[in-house]
Amino acid sequence: MDITEIIQHQHDEQRRMFAYLEQWPRDDREGLAAVWRRLAILLETHAEAEERYFYPELLRLGTGGADAESTEEEVEDAVKDHNEIRAAVRAADEHETGSVGWWTAVVDANVHNSDHMGEEERQDLADFRQQATLELRHVIAVNFLRYESQKAAAGTKPVDKDPQQYLDRHASDAVTDSEKHATKLAVAAAEGTPPTGAGATKTSS
Ligand SMILES: [Fe+2]
Ligand SMILES: [Fe+2]
Repeated sequence: MDITEIIQHQHDEQRRMFAYLEQWPRDDREGLAAVWRRLAILLETHAEAEERYFYPELLRLGTGGADAESTEEEVEDAVKDHNEIRAAVRAADEHETGSVGWWTAVVDANVHNSDHMGEEERQDLADFRQQATLELRHVIAVNFLRYESQKAAAGTKPVDKDPQQYLDRHASDAVTDSEKHATKLAVAAAEGTPPTGAGATKTSS
């Protein structure tokens, strides 16, 4: 498994589900509500799993992909985007399914999510594929899918994150992890053994 492929596949599924809604019979409110609920659960569990398992590793290893100024800017922007998508989902839930207000909020969620996925694919996923080993990408995939699978049926309560606080918390984790990694490499070099495990992550530097 590979976390970058799993995120990419789920983005494709999100695009498909917005397209289903666009084509759905407008008088089938029950069907619209069911498809929207399933999509809203996917949007939130996907965003939360990225914040828990993917972005911290991106902060640790990333270099700032494509048009991103830096990894920190990539992640700060991504957390802001997640909050905007959460706000649009909340707005949809405040309206009757199929009403003008509901459709406006659903389209708003689609716009924010489309912009975010494009950026995430162009910057974050591309950067991570360059920097992380397949072994680490597998480990993150397992954690990501475990969390999502546990929450898939009922969803998870959306919680906005302050982008700066998120960055402060995980940037310090990143320093700690990098220091641990450097120590592990130093010990391995001193013992003449190659480092193993998910901590041996950089394929280039
Ligand atoms: Fe994503
Ligand atoms: Fe995301």
